[in-house]
Amino acid sequence: MEQIVITGQKRLSGAVHINGAKNAAVAIIPAAIAANGVSIIENLPHIEDVIILANAIKSIGVVCEFKDEHTLMIDSRGVTDFKITYDLTRNMRASYYLLGSLLGRFKRAVVPLPGGCNFGSRPIDQHIKGFEAMGANIVLKHGLIHAYAEKLTGSHIYLDMASVGATINIMLAAVYAEGVTTIENAAREPHVVDTANFLNILGAKIKGAGTDMIRITGVAELYGAEYQIIPDQIEAGTYMIASAITCGDIKVCNIIPKHMDSLSAKLIEMNCELEEGDDYIRVMCTDSLQAVNVITMAYPGFPTDLQPQMTALMSTVKGTSIITETVFDNRFQYVTELRRLGSNVTVEGRVAVIEGGAALSGAEVNAVDLRAGAALVVAGLAARGDTTISNIKHIDRGYEDIENKLRSLGANIRRVDTVAGVGHKSPRAVF
Ligand code: EPU
Repeated sequence: MEQIVITGQKRLSGAVHINGAKNAAVAIIPAAIAANGVSIIENLPHIEDVIILANAIKSIGVVCEFKDEHTLMIDSRGVTDFKITYDLTRNMRASYYLLGSLLGRFKRAVVPLPGGCNFGSRPIDQHIKGFEAMGANIVLKHGLIHAYAEKLTGSHIYLDMASVGATINIMLAAVYAEGVTTIENAAREPHVVDTANFLNILGAKIKGAGTDMIRITGVAELYGAEYQIIPDQIEAGTYMIASAITCGDIKVCNIIPKHMDSLSAKLIEMNCELEEGDDYIRVMCTDSLQAVNVITMAYPGFPTDLQPQMTALMSTVKGTSIITETVFDNRFQYVTELRRLGSNVTVEGRVAVIEGGAALSGAEVNAVDLRAGAALVVAGLAARGDTTISNIKHIDRGYEDIENKLRSLGANIRRVDTVAGVGHKSPRAVF
């Protein structure tokens, strides 16, 4: 079993390169199989979720080959099957995008009910509502979603909440629906826009991505294309927070600073100094940070995916901070682990109250999900002594090369293998 061990209280400084966005990558790979052609996807993060998806699409006859760690060739001309098996995608959520892309292009798909991080019930009723509005029959049998349509017809779909997954999934199917589909109350996240941009390069006609009303005019066919994925907003934010918690000076490079506005505003409110360039943000911090309140919201609000890391930071800042989670109904499960490091956090429903200024001290902790794992890494960087994080497969699902990146910034961090003794099994780790 691999673990990450951090000996904390090192001030981080230097530059870190941010990889392509996980949540764009996991939508754009399924989008590529909506096309009848060959696509080259560049700037993919080299993470577990991407590898799982690549294997899943291979299983239905797609020819798929990594040209290098970050570039994937996808030849989707010879799809032979429309069923994705549970064992291939059990640990990931984004497998549901294969439903939209296969249903759109072939009018049928069988995909397992999605897994992924557990922070509440995470239903997909809005996805299904959208598919049904376009004329599909959706049946759930033995844990698999069966989707079928004689033909798809454009429709007006109002989402009850601005769901990222539903917006992208409906777009994926609607590119082939006859006539016009409108998605009202659409999600505006950067990866929604990135997926729409990619589909448009393939030949789709999507307008309004990035606003709350998306309009898709169906086309007869999509063709392959080359595309470069946007940088990862959440990876970037995690390193910005790592700078703040270590009183550091980190230049977070290869990013779109605009995507970071909600976090940048909070860090400035806390007294961090930020320098913004065209494609970087430098975060300079002292130990005189002040408490702030945060409410998570759909983009352009403060991302729920940075909420756990922010709780870790607030634990070390003197004063009372309040974090309100509005996107998911149960995303504070990691707090039990953070408390083991000395955080003083109480949770009441969707609100966490953090009595900050605690001197964190290292402990053995468990990453209960991806961003929970990131929060424990961030907290471990500030804690006195050793923090040992287990269940790091969650972290590997979303962060490329996290230990080498942090080490290059001055962190004392290593990956150990408790079965083989101290070792470094990860193919990504270079020691
Ligand atoms: N929801 C429904 N019904 C639906 C769809 C969503 O009730 O049909 C609810 C959800 O339960 C949740 C809210 O709507 O309370 C928002 O969910 P959304 O659909 O936007 O989330 P998602 O598509 O499941 C994606 C990201 C998450 C990120 C959220 C919110 C991917 C693969 N996942 O999930 O990323 O937290 O959007 O921004 O894109 C992560 O990267 O760590 C991660 C969890």
